[in-house]
Amino acid sequence: MLKTILCISSYEKGQEFLRQAKRQGWKVLLLTSKSLEYADWPKDHIDNIYYIPDVNKEWHMPDVINGVSYLARTEQIDKIVALDDFDVEKAATLREHLRIGGMGETTARYFRDKLAMRMKARETGITVPDFVGIFNYDRINEFISKVKPPYVLKPRLSAGAIGIKKIHTIDNLWQKINELGDQQSFYLLEKFVPGEIFHVDSIIVNKQVLFSIVSKYGLPPMEVSHEGRVFMTRTIERGSVDETALQNLNKSVLPLLGLLQGVSHTEYIKAYEGGKYYFLETSARVGGAHIVELIEGATGINLWAEWAKLETSVDVSKYKPVLLREEYSGLIVSLAKQQEPDLTSYNDQEIFWKIKKDFHAGLVIRSPKFDRVESLLKNYTDRFYQDFFTSAPPKEKPNY
Ligand SMILES: Nc1ncnc2c1ncn2[C@@H]1O[C@H](COP(=O)(O)OP(=O)(O)O)[C@@H](O)[C@H]1O
Ligand SMILES: [Mg+2]
Repeated sequence: MLKTILCISSYEKGQEFLRQAKRQGWKVLLLTSKSLEYADWPKDHIDNIYYIPDVNKEWHMPDVINGVSYLARTEQIDKIVALDDFDVEKAATLREHLRIGGMGETTARYFRDKLAMRMKARETGITVPDFVGIFNYDRINEFISKVKPPYVLKPRLSAGAIGIKKIHTIDNLWQKINELGDQQSFYLLEKFVPGEIFHVDSIIVNKQVLFSIVSKYGLPPMEVSHEGRVFMTRTIERGSVDETALQNLNKSVLPLLGLLQGVSHTEYIKAYEGGKYYFLETSARVGGAHIVELIEGATGINLWAEWAKLETSVDVSKYKPVLLREEYSGLIVSLAKQQEPDLTSYNDQEIFWKIKKDFHAGLVIRSPKFDRVESLLKNYTDRFYQDFFTSAPPKEKPNY
């Protein structure tokens, strides 16, 4: 019998997931924000689109529950999948309400709430930066008497380094906490651990990591988004000390946090001092900022499409991602001063993909040689600053 998948995306993304789900022979329904009515959805691969009225992509959940329950009167929904980070808990709430299998609210919390994932990770023996929730002032004072600044004060439920504040003094900390007023309990405080930031992007089935690839950001994402920089990341050398250590760490982190099946983008810090690896954060979705294209360059695996194949498998134990190659890739993205930046002079044979988005310049390169990717990235990053680079003030809130 025809199976039905309901995809939830308050943002414009996941087109390749939607297409692949349709190719798998499923009935594909999309629930998205009304403000995205004219977005570039692959309508030929979607059976029906439903819109939720939104204010800057924020949805009123009681209406969403009523709306989807109304839909369920006539549609037998077999699967619900959240395509964006901000939709993970919405999908979990709907699964719980409609009693549909998949990640429920308890596990979703560990993949969305930075305080929950920190606490769970520490309980299970994973190294994390020292942290404290912003609840009890005695506990916060105890924390600051033991852990020296700098700190980061970060929203528990955000993404993209939005709303994170770096704090250098205790006075400044209390000032920022006070400024947050009733919002303060939605934040956590942690030690700022200077280091290199890595991301491991994975496919998981039955708590087993079937595929994972380790990459390293050119600069810490906070610096990129707060200070305005060209964003860069690349796959790291296979078999290197960092690669082996992070693959192993990631293989224990995801099952310990409770991910049974799906994809994950998980980040780690390698401290400059001492070289220890810290768990930074995880998620139950593919990486943003075109990391999907980065990984496709290196491996031929498109994580959106693979995720859709996995979610629509009749028997997940038979699902296997097909690795086409084990090469290296690099991704560069910058805000551009031009509406349609001209990238024609970036024409080396290693070019794998170019972004098509107003006021953005970006590309992925791929090569069998790690050093070639590194040297091209260096050269292209310098040229991006010359040719396109511009910056915008950091966002205070998501959804704009
Ligand atoms: N404890 C920390 N020590 C050092 N840098 C941090 C720390 N926490 C966050 N950062 C910086 O902020 C960025 C965003 O933090 P993260 O927890 O990954 O949240 P987001 O969901 O916004 O990506 C990181 O990539 C890193 O640059
Ligand atoms: Mg992050």
